[in-house]
Amino acid sequence: MNLILLGPPGAGKGTQARRLQDGHGLIQLSTGDMLRAAVASGSDIGNQVKAIMERGELVSDDVMIAMIKDRIQEADCADGFILDGFPRTTAQAEALDEMLADMGRALDNVVEMRVDDLALVGRITGRYSCAKCGAGYHDDFQKPATEGVCDSCGSTEFSRRKDDNAETVTSRLEAYHAQTAPLLPYYDGKGVLAGVDGMAEIDEVTLQIEAVLGAG
Ligand code: AP5
Repeated sequence: MNLILLGPPGAGKGTQARRLQDGHGLIQLSTGDMLRAAVASGSDIGNQVKAIMERGELVSDDVMIAMIKDRIQEADCADGFILDGFPRTTAQAEALDEMLADMGRALDNVVEMRVDDLALVGRITGRYSCAKCGAGYHDDFQKPATEGVCDSCGSTEFSRRKDDNAETVTSRLEAYHAQTAPLLPYYDGKGVLAGVDGMAEIDEVTLQIEAVLGAG
C-alpha cells in the first residue's frame, strides 16, 4: 500500500504515520525528518536548506524530488510507504506520479487531514519529541505517561524544533495554502482522495484513517 498523508503543518501527519507504519508494515517517509537529519549532519544539502526551513518556506522542488526518488527505491519501501510531507507542490506530485509509473506502482490513498488554522499554532508551539527515539509529544494533548520520561525508550532528553514558533508557523501555513492545497483537487481528480477530521482526538483520527484504508 502506498499512502500520502496531506495536511497543513501540525495537522498530525507525523503522529498518525508513526501509528500506521507498524500496523500495516509500511515505512514512514517524512521529508521534514530527512531534511532535519541533513541539517544536523552538516551536509551540503543540509547547509543549503537550513535557513529556508527556519523561515518556514519550501525547499526547492529539485532537491525534494531527488531526495524522494532515491528513498522510495530502497528495499525497505518494497511493501509500501506513507509519505508525510511530500508532495507539497504540483511539480512534486507530477514527479511522484512519474516515479511510481516507472516502478510499476501506484498510489492507493491520499488522506487529507482537515484542521482549522487557529488550532495549528497551539499544536505546533506545544510540540516536542524524544531526543533519542523521536517519539512525538505535546505539552497539553499528548503527554508521556510519566512526566519527563519517554514512553517508547525511557529517555529523559527531549527537544523542540527550531521552526516551531508562532512567526514561522504563519509562513508555513501561507506556504501550505498557496502551494500545497492545490494538490487536493489534483488527487480528487484521480479518485484517490479521502478526508478525515483532524480536529478529532488522536485515537479517533487513527480510526478514521483506518476506515479509509479499509475501504480502499
Ligand atoms: P515538516 O517536518 O514536514 O513539517 P510540517 O508539514 O510543517 O508538519 P509538521 O511536522 O509540523 O506537522 P505534522 O502534521 O506532522 O503534525 P504532528 O503529528 O507533529 O517540514 C518542515 C519544513 O521542511 C517545511 O517547512 C519545509 O521548509 C521543509 N520541507 C519538508 N518537506 C518538504 C517538501 N516536500 N517540499 C519543500 N519543503 C519541504 O502534530 C503536531 C502536534 O500536535 C504534536 O505535538 C502532536 O502531539 C499534536 N497532535 C497531533 N494530532 C493531534 C490531535 N488530533 N489533537 C491534538 N493534538 C494533536
